[in-house]
Amino acid sequence: MEKRKVRFVDPGKLYRMLKPELDAAYFEIMEKGELINRGHLKSFEDNLAKFVGTKYAIGLNSGYDSLHVSMRAAGIGPGDEVIVPAHTFVASCSAIVNVGATPILVDVTSDFNIDVNKINEVITSRTKGIMPVHLSGWMADMPAILKIAEKYNLVVIEDACQSLGSSINGIGAGAWGTAGCFSFYPFKILGGYGDGGAITTNSEKIATYARRMRFNGEDRETGEYCGHGFTCLLDNMQAAFLDVKLRYMRQWIDKRKAIANKYLEAFSDIPDLLLPHYNRAGFDHVYQNYTLRSKQGSEFSDYLKEHGIEILTQFRKPYYKHKALNLPDRGFPETEALSREVCSLPMNVEIDEEELDYVIQVVRSFYGLN
Ligand SMILES: Cc1ncc(COP(=O)(O)O)c(C=O)c1O
Repeated sequence: MEKRKVRFVDPGKLYRMLKPELDAAYFEIMEKGELINRGHLKSFEDNLAKFVGTKYAIGLNSGYDSLHVSMRAAGIGPGDEVIVPAHTFVASCSAIVNVGATPILVDVTSDFNIDVNKINEVITSRTKGIMPVHLSGWMADMPAILKIAEKYNLVVIEDACQSLGSSINGIGAGAWGTAGCFSFYPFKILGGYGDGGAITTNSEKIATYARRMRFNGEDRETGEYCGHGFTCLLDNMQAAFLDVKLRYMRQWIDKRKAIANKYLEAFSDIPDLLLPHYNRAGFDHVYQNYTLRSKQGSEFSDYLKEHGIEILTQFRKPYYKHKALNLPDRGFPETEALSREVCSLPMNVEIDEEELDYVIQVVRSFYGLN
């Protein structure tokens, strides 16, 4: 087997595929000098809201900002507890801490998302919200979560940073909760050329709060400062690029599903691999990531790396085990088991068949198979 390099994502290659449209957006903005809070941002927000299925979308500087601002908008602050999965990117938890609230960690199930059967156990009189995280393109059980939220009158902030385009019973990620939060970090299914994020919501109150707070608290029509805010708008240039890419999302999701099926076919005879195919009625996986579990853990992921394949092992060390974060480790067996085994294979729309075949060949060769 001849060694080659396969990138996890290849933004340069995707740029070349969309060059005429992206270049047109770039030159138009540069010519007009429209950089902050201009028409491209508004257009992208309108299209994103339509795509997700909410009344409003508000472009922010990152997924983290969307989590942070939407929690403030929902009135979460000191003294409040917010339930969050033990297996997620650290930003979900940091946003809770940075509004002054206390994160209450709950273990996940084998689909990597919060275990809804463990949420009731941690609800107290201080619980103010739940932050389900839809990891890798597969949504948390929102019907069950909304039932709990209704019973205890809780705010639901969906961390949909990894799941734009995913849905349950046709209702999109980001359209279920009080607010939905998205990231347009370059590795994401809808990736910008730098950082970016957005809040989606049906609440006019939350939309207005986010629009003001992203702009130093200012009501841009009256000039009134409505609170101490931040500077965290999505740049007009990024919005224009994202608006171009958003047009391709459905097509790209189909391509991701085809790649996932190719991996499934190629690996279904390997008992030491647990593949991310769940077959749950109404749930749609969009494969932001193809995260499998290998019983051989780092031995498996190191072998792929040695053979030139870029992979992600998020997250070998769970975030609550990082001392400086000062989080209680109550013991989360499923999080710990899957953390040792996770490995995300290259999954992107710019990958070609030869590269995929090479990834498959290398994975099979690790298990001594042709
Ligand atoms: C689950 C999750 N939450 C939050 C974030 C934060 O997004 P950003 O990097 O845009 O701040 C990310 C992405 O990196 C993520 O994957």
